[in-house]
Amino acid sequence: MEEIFPGVFRKGKRIFTENLRPGQKVYGEDLLREGGKEYREWVPYRSKLAAAILKGLKIFPFKKGTTILYLGASTGTTVSHLSDIVGKEGVIYAVEFSERMMRELLDLCEKRPNIIPILADARKPKEYDWVGEVDVVYEDLAQPDQTRILIKNAEMFLKPGGEFLIAIKARSVDVTEDPKKIYRESKDELSERFEVIQLIELEPYEKDHCIILGRFRASP
Ligand SMILES: C[S@@+](CC[C@H](N)C(=O)[O-])C[C@H]1O[C@@H](n2cnc3c(N)ncnc32)[C@H](O)[C@@H]1O
Repeated sequence: MEEIFPGVFRKGKRIFTENLRPGQKVYGEDLLREGGKEYREWVPYRSKLAAAILKGLKIFPFKKGTTILYLGASTGTTVSHLSDIVGKEGVIYAVEFSERMMRELLDLCEKRPNIIPILADARKPKEYDWVGEVDVVYEDLAQPDQTRILIKNAEMFLKPGGEFLIAIKARSVDVTEDPKKIYRESKDELSERFEVIQLIELEPYEKDHCIILGRFRASP
């Protein structure tokens, strides 16, 4: 196992995180024991963040103790790996507006106290303004207004100099448009307010998706 980012391990072509709850799987992923530790495979076809890592993500803003606002938690596939990485010292505020997804997410939160579930619409960040400042904002919503929602949340919660990652689903914006044009438009919109560091297309793991990594510039 080679540690390629804090808490992210690579073995051959597969990546792993160290399991915070040994013996327990979250979404049917493989468990691997090595050197007295247990690792969970981080499957790039199931998690866009894993796909971005395998496609050459340059900066990985997560480590032990990181606080994250995660928008679009769903049942917690990616959230569970971030929970492994930030450990007991970190916190993930996991926002999800679907009650059905939230029910499954709640099972995960019971086993992993570093995930705080928030049943809310990410378009209305005032509803969870008690979260306060975070180190990283991560968004994966698959909504036509996904970029605007990220901007609103980052401006409200992200610490100066903090990073954000947003998964862009081109087909949620316009099914007829060239995905590359949609990625560019999103990048331009984000660049007006933030420093955009990298845009990563996620093929072959996810069709017509990219992840944009950026940073909230500290005020002059
Ligand atoms: C593509 S899935 C997220 C997958 C998840 N990020 C992962 O990697 O495991 C998108 C999720 O965002 C949620 N969602 C969409 N719009 C939302 C909004 N405005 N507020 C909160 N959640 C939203 C959906 O219910 C869905 O569960």
